[in-house]
Amino acid sequence: MATVKAMLRGAADSLLDLTIAPGFSRIGWGARKALGLLGPINVDLGGRTCVVTGANSGLGLEASRQLAALGADVVMVGRNPERLEQARASVEGSARSGASITTEVIDLSSLESVRAGAARLLASKPQIDVLVNNAGVLLDSRQASVDGIELTLATNVLGPFLLTELLIPALAAAALERRPARIINVSSGGMYSEAVKLDELQSERSKWSGSAVYARTKRMQVMLTEYWAGQLADQGIVVHAMHPGWADTPGVESSLPTFHKIVGKALRTPAEGADTITWLAAAEAPNRSSGGFWQDRAERPLNRRPGTASKAGDDRLLADDLRDLAASA
Ligand SMILES: NC(=O)c1ccc[n+]([C@@H]2O[C@H](COP(=O)([O-])OP(=O)(O)OC[C@H]3O[C@@H](n4cnc5c(N)ncnc54)[C@H](OP(=O)(O)O)[C@@H]3O)[C@@H](O)[C@H]2O)c1
Repeated sequence: MATVKAMLRGAADSLLDLTIAPGFSRIGWGARKALGLLGPINVDLGGRTCVVTGANSGLGLEASRQLAALGADVVMVGRNPERLEQARASVEGSARSGASITTEVIDLSSLESVRAGAARLLASKPQIDVLVNNAGVLLDSRQASVDGIELTLATNVLGPFLLTELLIPALAAAALERRPARIINVSSGGMYSEAVKLDELQSERSKWSGSAVYARTKRMQVMLTEYWAGQLADQGIVVHAMHPGWADTPGVESSLPTFHKIVGKALRTPAEGADTITWLAAAEAPNRSSGGFWQDRAERPLNRRPGTASKAGDDRLLADDLRDLAASA
């Protein structure tokens, strides 16, 4: 009987996923909660170090709060010292006793800032159990980073790629003691709408569309998730991508004002959007696989639209291109 119930719950969950709008919105969250798929996360993360980027706002702030409440030592990463300190103070109140909440200032769109920040992190945190690559932007015009790289790519992909590669020794060191360490890439359901062209990473030849460029960077994060899953398996590091559904955050309000207005009250809270980040960081089940794409604590398909899937081997080529770009800028 228990198995039949679990199968029915799974079928209802998959059906919701297929419906996109209800599944991504608060409706999907509420329905899955009612189905018993989103219960409390009862895990003690005491002694674990979790690094969260984009931690001063929206999902990153809530993920930091949830991880701190489970007892983790959280390093909140942001680019603005004042906003970051304000966020740190607000998280400290919800932290379990013994958890430490610290900050690290890194501008992910600047390769120099990423290199310097990674060096400081390696010195202060030689073991990192969880890295959450959450920071992201959706821009309404083409802009260049300080390194001359299209700014969405620089912020959402290149900076996090470099940061992750530089932090692998600390993740591997944590995995040696407390297998596995985890990398969580916060992508988006928007990635379903776009294919990645490896010869057009900076979207130079196409007419500017902020949401299309954003969607391509979000698919690149999923490709890197597959790449690192293969590369890091023997170091005891698992890698997951996730999408939060549609959550009411400062980022959504400022970069998608019309969407924010239309979907309005059907948007999830930031805490609901962050839930799968925390679950992937803390629960036992995500230790058993690597390289997948998750929403509401279940693995979801990588592709939904014809012509958008990447080819076998593209993930490695993307990583090589990013490595070259980071070295040349
Ligand atoms: N909310 C949703 O419905 C939704 C849906 C799908 C995917 N996502 C993804 O979820 C992640 C978090 O988004 P959010 O909705 O929480 O938006 P948000 O409130 O705007 O948070 C984004 C965070 O990224 C940080 N950030 C931006 N550029 C940065 C840079 N160059 N260096 C360091 N940090 C930088 C921001 O810092 P500042 O405050 O300094 O700008 C902020 O802390 C993003 O990757 C987004 O693509 C969100």
